[in-house]
Amino acid sequence: MTDTAAGPVDLVVLGGGSGGYAAALRAAELGLRVVLVEKDKIGGTCLHRGCIPTKALLHAAEVVDTVNDSEHFGIRATLDGIDMTKVGAYRDSVIAGLYKGLTGLVKARGIEIVQGHGRLVSPTAVAVGERVIEGRHVLLATGSATRTLPGLDLDHRTVITSDDALALERVPRSAVVLGAGAIGCEFASVWRSFGAEVTIVEALDHLVPAEDEASSKLLERAFRKRGIALRLGARFAEVKTADNAVTVSLEDGTTIEAELLLVAVGRGPVSDGLGFDEVGVTLQRGHVLVDRNLRTNIPTISALGDLRPGLQLAHVGFAEGIFVAELLAGLNPIPIDYDTIPRVTYSHPEVASVGLTTAAARERHGEISTATYHLAGNGKAQILRTAGAVTVISVKDGPVVGVHMVGDRVGELIAEAQLITNWEAHPAEVAQLVHPHPTLSEALGEAHLALAGKPLHSHN
Ligand code: NAI
Repeated sequence: MTDTAAGPVDLVVLGGGSGGYAAALRAAELGLRVVLVEKDKIGGTCLHRGCIPTKALLHAAEVVDTVNDSEHFGIRATLDGIDMTKVGAYRDSVIAGLYKGLTGLVKARGIEIVQGHGRLVSPTAVAVGERVIEGRHVLLATGSATRTLPGLDLDHRTVITSDDALALERVPRSAVVLGAGAIGCEFASVWRSFGAEVTIVEALDHLVPAEDEASSKLLERAFRKRGIALRLGARFAEVKTADNAVTVSLEDGTTIEAELLLVAVGRGPVSDGLGFDEVGVTLQRGHVLVDRNLRTNIPTISALGDLRPGLQLAHVGFAEGIFVAELLAGLNPIPIDYDTIPRVTYSHPEVASVGLTTAAARERHGEISTATYHLAGNGKAQILRTAGAVTVISVKDGPVVGVHMVGDRVGELIAEAQLITNWEAHPAEVAQLVHPHPTLSEALGEAHLALAGKPLHSHN
């Protein structure tokens, strides 16, 4: 059956995650007729298996840390236990509320949702079962899924993915976390707060290796202080599983025993068996290749989010969705500047950054200036008892090109840093801005004061 009665719609979106639903919402707002095809629930990985549930767990972990740390504030409180069923209920209630809001929004914008497994069948059509939905344009937004290493079999019980970790209804006694990107560090942080013995195994020399080296080192110090064991520059060799136990061997011959192994070595694109190849969409290792306008090699097909090579972040998906919709509606949107996307790892402490690392700035700009302001000098950080630092990098006598932060709640501060780097502000201009006292945001102001040559609560 082909939908022909009213002719093709303007946009068929395959996949209702962050990128797909953002495109649908914006396109509908601009008056386009949109069909959104989703096999599971709109909201995708971010809402159901990623950002939102993990941040809920991280917040529950913060509550545990606060109780355990309460004597430092003169409060007598003891942790009476963690009810993972109730933690799960809290997490699910957050998801349910957001899901309800999202479905309401999609409905209110007049977007048709087609529930089912969609497949690309032509440059302008997606099939769902017997139904073929024709569109003037098709947007591929099928996202990514957990993946593992060759030869490392998942049993989803003792060797698990982040999806399994979220569904776990207990706190593991002990865990090995393989991979120290955002997923590995966030789960290590949660489980440690909940009382588990955690070892992180990372092939590269640092935690969050894509971040500025100074940030990685601060996180390593904080994690070690929290009792998380780190095996950096260590390569995984094999795992042996038994009932409720794993023995993880590393290439240097050492072994680690634990209750489970979390595999967090990246996520892979979802593009197999969806007709992309057959219709002639160019793929590279499963990723759909796109130009700066997010168009594939076929002019009527765009792709975005985790499916294309590059950053796999929900907020990038939102921005790309808006961009694709506006382009299709005949507006003239500005292509996304991927160099100025903020990144946050929501561990305890958090790591947040925008722009270039020190090494990348040096490579791109040659002479650079940097200033680091330690949270030890920040009143609010001392009140909260959080350690960390803010590092600002500028081109020598030029604009700010990178900001890196470590500390609790710094994820909430990175948006200001993003304005600074996006507007190519110079350190002296930012130093003019008066930050409210006492807030963590002052640390950003202080780092710029230092970089502008007039440090207040720090040494030159
Ligand atoms: P990732 O690519 O960020 O990190 C994977 C880590 O595993 C890397 O550090 C890599 O060196 C390491 N690794 C790979 N093979 C290994 C081996 N054989 N032995 C030891 N270590 C090995 O991927 P991750 O953390 O799984 O996240 C997937 C995606 O989801 C990323 O793009 C990430 O940015 C995104 N994400 C973002 C979050 C956030 O923004 N807060 C939260 C969770 C995920």
